[in-house]
Amino acid sequence: MIAIAIDGPAGAGKSSVARGIARELGFIYVDTGALYRTIGLYARRRSVDLEDDGAVAGMLEEITVELKFIDGEQRVFLNGEDVSPLIRTADISMMASRVSALPPVRAFLLELQRDLARKNNVIMDGRDIGTVVLPGAQIKLFLTASPECRAQRRCRELAEKGEPADLQQVLAEIRQRDYNDSHRAIAPLKPAQDAQVVDNSDLTLQETIDTMTRLIRTRLTALQMNPTERC
Ligand code: DC
Repeated sequence: MIAIAIDGPAGAGKSSVARGIARELGFIYVDTGALYRTIGLYARRRSVDLEDDGAVAGMLEEITVELKFIDGEQRVFLNGEDVSPLIRTADISMMASRVSALPPVRAFLLELQRDLARKNNVIMDGRDIGTVVLPGAQIKLFLTASPECRAQRRCRELAEKGEPADLQQVLAEIRQRDYNDSHRAIAPLKPAQDAQVVDNSDLTLQETIDTMTRLIRTRLTALQMNPTERC
């Protein structure tokens, strides 16, 4: 199996890029942020005290999280309920960032992610895919852009959905999530040592897809020529 890991901060465009590349290569695209968002949703619904280790352990005993791929699109299920449309709010983004700092939550989701990569060719995006989840991934990319650029893109997306947002507030949320994600003790956001870093602050989405596809194709060709590198 081939695994492509794409890590990077919130709003760098990982999901749009990964989805495009997965379609081109016929791989499954796994958005691991959706898993943390789903646990964040449950914690929000049940008002779980995330400072209380017992409450967090109790929460994890009560839930099952599953990913299903319907017409190539990932859907995420919480105790059998398709919660995919409910996990994209700013509130759940922040909850996801908070639950993702908890070691039991990360341990709970680890095997699910690894299992998908054992059974499928995957392109998986997240924060710790190349460092922790799939350290043996054959291709590792780290996609980033300046916080200002990511905030502007997010505001444009929201405006297109008819939900205009305040740029300064979106920027503050992005900075807060960057800080949380990269300063947590466990599996912090950082490029794997063998990752190629792409900064797309000055690139369009299509230019980013083209750049990353080129990097991936070069690496795939090298792997075909030297199959012992595969794991
Ligand atoms: O990629 P996203 O914005 O949907 O991720 C939501 C949160 O989940 C993000 O703040 C950090 C966390 N996350 C993580 O810690 N590890 C991952 N592999 C994916 C997401």
